[in-house]
Amino acid sequence: MSESMINPIAERFGIKISRKKKIRGGIYRIVTSKGKTFSLKRMPKRVGRLKWIDRILLRIQRNGSLVAWRNPNTPEGRKPYATSRKGEHYVLTPWISGRKPSPRSLSDMRRCGVALARFHKAGHAGIKGKIAYSRIGSWYSALRHREGYIKHKIVKARRNAFSLSNSRFIKQHGSEILRYSNRAKALLQGSGYYQYRRNPRKFGILCHGDGGPSNFIINSKGTYLIDFETVHVDLRAYDLYRVIYNSCKDYKWNFSIASAILDGYRQVSKLHKNDFKLLRALLRFPYTTYLVLSPFKRLPFTKRRLQWALESERKIGPFLKKLDEYAAKNCS
Ligand SMILES: Nc1ncnc2c1ncn2[C@@H]1O[C@H](COP(=O)(O)OP(=O)(O)O)[C@@H](O)[C@H]1O
Ligand SMILES: [Mg+2]
Repeated sequence: MSESMINPIAERFGIKISRKKKIRGGIYRIVTSKGKTFSLKRMPKRVGRLKWIDRILLRIQRNGSLVAWRNPNTPEGRKPYATSRKGEHYVLTPWISGRKPSPRSLSDMRRCGVALARFHKAGHAGIKGKIAYSRIGSWYSALRHREGYIKHKIVKARRNAFSLSNSRFIKQHGSEILRYSNRAKALLQGSGYYQYRRNPRKFGILCHGDGGPSNFIINSKGTYLIDFETVHVDLRAYDLYRVIYNSCKDYKWNFSIASAILDGYRQVSKLHKNDFKLLRALLRFPYTTYLVLSPFKRLPFTKRRLQWALESERKIGPFLKKLDEYAAKNCS
């Protein structure tokens, strides 16, 4: 979104910008002429999906869960979205002042767990009866697809298609990485997943889709969720997986972080043994290595990153042992 484009978009929401700050491409923090602060964000989604997300978030808000979404009773919150001349859709949401939770603080992590469980609870009514935008059925194929991608890179490394050090690293450790992905598939098959995927109506819940420290904000009112681009229907283990992955990956897979998140979640809703089985399968997949191998910009394809990813994958085995102990101790 170019700087000059955002003024006309803001006008479509009935506001005048007095100050703006670019957060990243497609997201601005803006202050209106009346002194209110908002986030203006491009949402690369079809209109039907945007309307669905909007409807469900308004309902969640009414149920008392804290989400950074429009307030339809304010002039700026009347429209669910505005469309630019290029046909791109934007949403305007109140800017929540506060701080990002830190994985170093177990009480912050516990709050994230509580907020996620409240979101799940509040979202339940919104998806009853009709299951739209569900990804419940796609877990196995997603793992297979990512595994296929890793295999493809291993074949290329054998042909020395990358830099010498990257090719050598992948050739040396490829079989270990594939062992982890095979293990993830086996865990998924033994998790009861196929029973759940046959019953989306019964087991589907509204998932945020990308929970983690950068998508929660804590202030004196409580813990807010932000960033709803990835909202979809799924099994709740998926959201727990995202929050745990995003919170633990940069902290050496310290289990106490996950334990605080799970404790917080369980303060609001019960977790069952099967939730843990599903969670285990997703966590075992060598996702960090997959991200380094993929064109994902934030993790460059370098030997240092590959090494870091492999060290991360190696910590997941002991982490999952602790997860099993936690499940045995804390749920039915
Ligand atoms: N409504 C908001 N209130 C407070 N901070 C926000 C808001 N929207 C975005 N941010 C800040 O901008 C960052 C990026 O916005 P986000 O919507 O999460 O985009 P991305 O898709 O890049 O994750 C967030 O991590 C947060 O720090
Ligand atoms: Mg985000």
